[in-house]
Amino acid sequence: MDSILVRGNGPLSGQIPIAGAKNACLTLMPATLLSEEPLTLTNAPRLSDIQTMTELLQSLGAEVSRLQDGKVIAMSSHVLDNNTAHYDIVRKMRASILVLGPLLARTGQAIVSLPGGCAIGARPVDLHLRALEAMGAQLELKEGYVHASAPKGLKGGQVDFAFASVGATENALMAATLAKGTTILKNAAREPEIVDLARCLRAMGAQIEGEGSSSITIQGVDRLYGATHQVVTDRIELGTYMLAPAICGGEVELLGGRIDLLSAFCEKLDTAGINVSESAKGLVVKRKNGEIRAVDVTTEPFPGFPTDLQAQMMALLCTAEGTSVLEEKIFENRFMHAPELMRMGANIEVHGGTATVTGVKKLKGAPVMATDLRASVSLILAGLAAEGETKVARVYHLDRGYEHVVRKLRGVGADIERISAA
Ligand code: UD1
Repeated sequence: MDSILVRGNGPLSGQIPIAGAKNACLTLMPATLLSEEPLTLTNAPRLSDIQTMTELLQSLGAEVSRLQDGKVIAMSSHVLDNNTAHYDIVRKMRASILVLGPLLARTGQAIVSLPGGCAIGARPVDLHLRALEAMGAQLELKEGYVHASAPKGLKGGQVDFAFASVGATENALMAATLAKGTTILKNAAREPEIVDLARCLRAMGAQIEGEGSSSITIQGVDRLYGATHQVVTDRIELGTYMLAPAICGGEVELLGGRIDLLSAFCEKLDTAGINVSESAKGLVVKRKNGEIRAVDVTTEPFPGFPTDLQAQMMALLCTAEGTSVLEEKIFENRFMHAPELMRMGANIEVHGGTATVTGVKKLKGAPVMATDLRASVSLILAGLAAEGETKVARVYHLDRGYEHVVRKLRGVGADIERISAA
């Protein structure tokens, strides 16, 4: 297994290009299942999760090809000759459940393996299933698979989400585009990836209003058409790299960065003593006066502070002046990076969903283990500012969500390399 070697070597400077959003792409790709006509995505990220979704769609009969060095994904679901999403692919990635809604809406039948638990918590799919039931789907759970059917098609209905789940909103939104009549999604998630999905579906002919608010109304149509859609900027990759000059000092421009994608995060950076300004090409980040100050953070659904940036923010706060309290409200087991950061000298106490971080002067390099996608990048960020060498093992987690991480960080002067397993 490959590992990444990082040596702390002072301030960073230069530009980092931000890719298209993994989480948007993972919901835009299944949208191809809704139409017989081609769907093309531009600005796609090159990641192993995208490859997993490619394999899943291909297993259902879709044609998927990657063009322009992988940045363009051309898909056609003219013929779908299989309606079962098998466990061997679904188990690799929870977002596989996003084929359920579109497959059911288009073909009237779908059999999708339950994704199971994952490292950051139990993550059930009950909200996805309740939403489809509200649209008339009949569901049965058999031997680890959801068997969904709607022989006469889905019907519009009102869905009241008990929690504003991102994935459940996406599944319901896609399914509702082909349901008969009007569907209203209440307490819908408001994430930019959902706005992006709605835009793409509208370009395909769907009738949707209210995306980005907590109430989305969809008027079902008989069919959807082909479209070309540009994937929105990855706000989590953006936030991650914004933390690099915050942690190491220096000044970095994030190409394609937008404050509106990360306003709660930018407010916390401001309190912590980090300056974020808009430039012609994106965002410029640097420290205000050299010192990082402690700040309390609570993760929330959008527009709140994203859970997907909690680990990276913790890496910053490890060397802040004072004590910060981080509350994780979205996932129940998302502090696995804390013991690894402690191996690097961080002072962190975890009690349930709360982590208390008291800043130390300097972290020290150490061998550490990546436990999930965002945890792994937090260890790299910590290593960039630590004294000595940090070796991050199990970097396959990183390949799921960060393209060319070594190249991008080297481009701004970081001392980082990937060591391939012999
Ligand atoms: C998406 C993102 C993930 C991000 C998360 C929260 C993708 C591919 N992944 O995940 O990176 O961390 O949003 O911003 O877009 N829940 C249930 N029942 C359900 C669905 C969810 O109880 O049916 C719970 C989950 O266990 C979790 C919470 O709701 O505690 C949030 O999950 P959700 O918003 O659905 O996240 P995902 O769509 O899985």
